[in-house]
Amino acid sequence: MSMTRLGGLLLAAVVAAGGPAYAQDSLGSASMGEELAQSVCADCHAIERGERGTDLTGAPSFQDVADLSSATALSLRVFLRSPHLTMPNFALSNDQIDDLIAYIHSLR
Ligand code: HEC
Repeated sequence: MSMTRLGGLLLAAVVAAGGPAYAQDSLGSASMGEELAQSVCADCHAIERGERGTDLTGAPSFQDVADLSSATALSLRVFLRSPHLTMPNFALSNDQIDDLIAYIHSLR
């Protein structure tokens, strides 16, 4: 397959998915993300739809995070890949990160 043809296919896939990959919200599976959030994030974060506020450690609810327009897929991905002072440094795979982002954005 020529590069031009491949490029056309990739572009078609991006258009079909509703926009450029960097702006896209749901690369992952929201239901997988919810399960993962329940097992590893819910110790600190309120993770259910409609829950608001922060816990004692200052962890914002996922609904509050979802409501921030600044919480794009890109910014969440960067955040979840970076070592973090107050958050334990999870070894999350890219797929797990995509699932978590899909879940958080499903709360919008
Ligand atoms: C041990 C407690 C703890 C756990 C477990 C935890 N977090 Fe956090 N998280 C925090 C705290 C505290 C903050 C807020 C302070 C900060 O941003 O440093 C935070 C902030 C965040 C933010 C907000 C970033 C922003 O833009 O302000 C996101 C998103 C987030 N966590 C996602 C997750 C996800 C996804 C998981 C599970 C994989 C998780 N956290 C697990 C404590 C935790």
